[in-house]
Amino acid sequence: MIETKGFPKGFLWGGATAANQCEGGYDEGGRGLANVDVVPIGEDRYPIITGKQKHIEFDEDHFYPAKEAIDMYHRYKEDIALFGEMGFKTYRLSIAWSRIFPKGDEKEPNEEGLKFYENLFKECHKHNIEPLVTITHFDVPMHLIEEYGGWRNRKMVDFYENLVTVLFNRYKGLVKYWLTFNEINVILHAPFMGAGLYFKEGENEMQVKYQAAHHELVASAIATRIAHEVDPENKVGCMLAAGQYYPLTPKPEDVFEAMQKDRENYFFIDVQSRGEYPAYALKELEREGVEIKMEPEDAEILKANTVDFISFSYYASRIASAEPVKEDATDGNLMGTVKNPYLEASEWGWQIDPLGMRITMNAMYDRYQKPLFIVENGLGAVDTPDENGYVEDDYRIKYLAEHIEAMRDAINKDGVEVWGYTTWGCIDLVSASTGEMKKRYGFIYVDRDNYGKGTLERSKKKSFYWYKNVIESNGKDLSLDVEVK
Ligand code: BG6
Repeated sequence: MIETKGFPKGFLWGGATAANQCEGGYDEGGRGLANVDVVPIGEDRYPIITGKQKHIEFDEDHFYPAKEAIDMYHRYKEDIALFGEMGFKTYRLSIAWSRIFPKGDEKEPNEEGLKFYENLFKECHKHNIEPLVTITHFDVPMHLIEEYGGWRNRKMVDFYENLVTVLFNRYKGLVKYWLTFNEINVILHAPFMGAGLYFKEGENEMQVKYQAAHHELVASAIATRIAHEVDPENKVGCMLAAGQYYPLTPKPEDVFEAMQKDRENYFFIDVQSRGEYPAYALKELEREGVEIKMEPEDAEILKANTVDFISFSYYASRIASAEPVKEDATDGNLMGTVKNPYLEASEWGWQIDPLGMRITMNAMYDRYQKPLFIVENGLGAVDTPDENGYVEDDYRIKYLAEHIEAMRDAINKDGVEVWGYTTWGCIDLVSASTGEMKKRYGFIYVDRDNYGKGTLERSKKKSFYWYKNVIESNGKDLSLDVEVK
């Protein structure tokens, strides 16, 4: 077989953001309050996003970074123009549900919210950028949480159906690529931020989480059906917080544990891509005494409406051990893991493993045989700008170059089909796990600190010019030597 060096023609290069981490304007344009608004920065964030601490409104004691974020609500034209300058072929963004349905259970949508995204999509097309839209990136209207308990309630399926019906019809011809739920497996790790769940004392959390997950899986399948009915051109994907587990040692117990941990994540995609609950999950739920209430039509809905492609985020590989030792623990994307002695880590302890991305891609392609779309990858780092806001971010360039090379190998050497690649936080934005601005991923620097100080001015980092070359050469030119104009 001949190995080509580049990427397939039409490969969708771009960047990704999420509404709650960049838009701000939390109370503008008729928008309602959402779970993602009321999660503060600071030590209470973790107990709140995991649903251990109930916190459903603003108070004076905390700072809420999503309220203003990077103010993209008002600055999207400037930002999309910068994406266009880098040559983006696609821009992944998410819809804030509570802009479209402020409370979530209304019959009629909020025209101002619909218009906002319509304008934004048109702006993308003006720059030849294809929008890739995440329908929900962690957000749930607050009213749906207070009144119905978030995704634990079956009624959420109807509200979601109402939302997607409006979106697919209104944006027909403007949007072709859709993701139903961002990092659907995060419901297990950050259930309040991911699905509007918090728990009562003594409640069986696993029962609640898997019941809520079932509702999301059914809602996702219904959305896939409607998307295809409204426009056969629509392509719908699932989205996983991915990262292959390695066993800590060749000890069979560790290998078994790694398989189990992978299954915990793949469970969601197994349902969305294969259309049924896998045998291992049914057994595990039974063992744990979890009983999922399903409606008679659910099995058929899941089976008949599987996704067109598999998307995922990848930041790091993970390690599983049958006997994890506390001292070896380190942070990862909303899932802690064990330190890998062979890898370096980011300033936040996330393990850096480009080959791990190739391994993950192969594992997913072997499992599903559907096209992949890498919709998040990147390095969260502290940047130090000069007086013009310029950042010499060679560390970020290195991280991205090595991951793109690994992706190129997966495509050219392993035959994995990949539609595109969007780096996370192409413009600096609020971190989901910590609420910080300090943890930056962007090609574009935003002058704002953890507590909302700064001009919000945008400036180009070195990686901006580097990524432009990457796109221009369709992935052939990854050289770290970049001319900064
Ligand atoms: C994923 C999310 O978890 O990773 C994003 O989809 C998030 O919302 C990204 O921002 C990076 O994580 P963090 O915690 O560094 O912002």
